[in-house]
Amino acid sequence: MERALPIKVGVIGCGIGSFHLEGYAEEPRAKVIAIAGLEDRCQELANKFGVSRVYHDYRELLADPDVQAVSIAVPNYMHQEVTLAALRAGKDVLVEKPLAPTAAEGESMVAAAEETGRILMIAFNRRGRHDVELVKNEVEAGRLGRIYHARAFWMRRSGIPGLGSWFTTKSLAGGGPLIDLGVHVLDLALWIMGNPRPVAVSAATYAELGPRGKGQFFGSRFKVIEGAPYEVEDFATAMIRLDGGATLQLDASWAGYTSHTDEFGVSFMGDAGGAEIHVKDYAQIGTLRLFGEVGGMPAVTEPRLLPRHGHGWVIHRFIDAILNGKTESPSAEEGLDRVRLIEAIYRSAELGREIEI
Ligand SMILES: NC(=O)c1ccc[n+]([C@@H]2O[C@H](COP(=O)([O-])OP(=O)(O)OC[C@H]3O[C@@H](n4cnc5c(N)ncnc54)[C@H](O)[C@@H]3O)[C@@H](O)[C@H]2O)c1
Repeated sequence: MERALPIKVGVIGCGIGSFHLEGYAEEPRAKVIAIAGLEDRCQELANKFGVSRVYHDYRELLADPDVQAVSIAVPNYMHQEVTLAALRAGKDVLVEKPLAPTAAEGESMVAAAEETGRILMIAFNRRGRHDVELVKNEVEAGRLGRIYHARAFWMRRSGIPGLGSWFTTKSLAGGGPLIDLGVHVLDLALWIMGNPRPVAVSAATYAELGPRGKGQFFGSRFKVIEGAPYEVEDFATAMIRLDGGATLQLDASWAGYTSHTDEFGVSFMGDAGGAEIHVKDYAQIGTLRLFGEVGGMPAVTEPRLLPRHGHGWVIHRFIDAILNGKTESPSAEEGLDRVRLIEAIYRSAELGREIEI
């Protein structure tokens, strides 16, 4: 059956939910008709984006029969509860990363999408970057040859998103920078490589600055909750063995004595070429270098890049999926694979040795 356009959308959560609102504003096939969230800023966002219905609790938004699809941008510990309720209310769902704090919760979300026949996708918005698209295309065209090693990292000098908040509470977030930031670059590396299966991991985690009350994000919307414990790592490092023999080195940190405010990237070594994406302070241009040869001499190519809105890219694919009645990548299944790998990384760190997956 032809779907009437625009698809009517609800956005749940007014933190990163604002990026979803920006993304939908670029998508003529969808219109946000409702926002839900607990703070006054939700009304401000509604005014800014011309959204007429503002709900407090997410259940009120899900009870709105006009809402056909939702973006879920609530804390990690609520992803499962809100996703299950939305799918069962007949809504298609785009949920924020990580899929859930645990793989068990993520499995129930994937199962509910199958049972209800609704779309369930995950906001891996970094895939929408232009540098990422170019590297993905180079790898798929075989121009790097066989990739035997990749590196993924996200490092912050002082970027704990709220000392003492849900972010730093293990049961609410699922972990620290590994599940918060590492999940993005893990996803980029694995997706670009064609989703090879991880077979073993050797990892370590550290909590050095957070427990001493150091490393809070400067000048951001994230608040410090005085006296609340810091329960997660502030740095994680892992060596992951992939099916087929390639290796992936991952580092993720919210806080540490490193050089820059915020930097992330992925790089690939292939037997015919290499590629390196290195992003400082969320730069969109000047971030990609490709390594090859010209006349037998080492050569570096730095393509010109265009700025992109990552959430806009994901939302475009989400609307495609709704209209085609078929889930697109980034899918909830890929989100679940990443959480399973992250759980294995934490287990290896706890045991202090390599484990098979
Ligand atoms: N893709 C990205 O780049 C990116 C960036 C930041 C955060 N995130 C993810 O987005 C999610 C939210 O993170 P955040 O930084 O926006 O957190 P936040 O704590 O700033 O915001 C959470 C929002 O959820 C709302 N909420 C909580 N309970 C609710 C309820 N019962 N009904 C309706 N709304 C409710 C709050 O009112 C708030 O607006 C997390 O999963 C996080 O990992 C993704």
